[in-house]
Amino acid sequence: MAADAVAAAEVAEADGAARMSDMPIDIKGPAEIEAMREAGLLAAATLRAIGALVKPGISTGKLNQIAHEFQLDHGAIPAPLNYRGFPKSICTSVNDVVCHGIPSNKHVLREGDLVNVDVTPILAGFHGDTSATFFVGEVSDKARRVTEVSRKSLELGIAATKPGGRIRDIGAVIEDYAHGEGMSIVEDYCGHGIGRIFHTSPQVTHYRSRGPNPRMRPGMTFTIEPMINTGTKHTRLMKDNWTVKTRDGGLSAQFEHTVLVTAEGVEVLTDPAKLAGTKYDH
Ligand code: MF3
Ligand code: CO
Ligand code: CO
Repeated sequence: MAADAVAAAEVAEADGAARMSDMPIDIKGPAEIEAMREAGLLAAATLRAIGALVKPGISTGKLNQIAHEFQLDHGAIPAPLNYRGFPKSICTSVNDVVCHGIPSNKHVLREGDLVNVDVTPILAGFHGDTSATFFVGEVSDKARRVTEVSRKSLELGIAATKPGGRIRDIGAVIEDYAHGEGMSIVEDYCGHGIGRIFHTSPQVTHYRSRGPNPRMRPGMTFTIEPMINTGTKHTRLMKDNWTVKTRDGGLSAQFEHTVLVTAEGVEVLTDPAKLAGTKYDH
């Protein structure tokens, strides 16, 4: 979410907190971790179900409707709906849209599009937040490349997540890799602590940022969600007050997972590989 919007969200969500990055980082206990696993699993199942529907001719409004129903059918509520006024249940961000794209029945996906689908069910009070970028039919080499760089950026960020490490280790490895690939990294939006609250501390930047650099400890849960651009890192907020685009019209791709710091390292709570053998398996 927007770094500067984080403070407002905190006030709304956590009752008078000054800034997200100043909030103490919540350490989840065993019961909360189990609830986060369940929410993460449902998020992964939702994303997989919607991803399978992405093809030329489907509207982003249809994806929204199916994702909405899927979550209700599994006992969850889609967190984005009415979140600070967001009008839909998922975000669908196409081509030069960086994030927070609003689904619409009028927006039909076309061959060659890139679409990021971002889902966040609330299950039994806990959030699971995950997104992926999908190809609509065949896409350009450039589209393929920015997508692969964003996928790998998330992987590297996850690999840098371990107890005793520091939050800014994540952005450091992503910056070195993505810049080496000739891509830019969005700085205006970042990963976030998550649990009963959608967006809380710590703030997880995907580049070498200044400011707080807390140590990662077992029981922390947060998202890593690098937005990678082919052109400029700079963004522009559209008149609908949600849709964020690249300032130069270049392509943007993103992947997101919710992760848990464990005693041994990291657990990816929204890993689709975890779906095997669960009630979401088919
Ligand atoms: N899921 C987004 C994230 O990764 C947040 C979407 S907020 C909304 O943090 F209001 F735009 F839905
Ligand atoms: Co998120
Ligand atoms: Co998200």
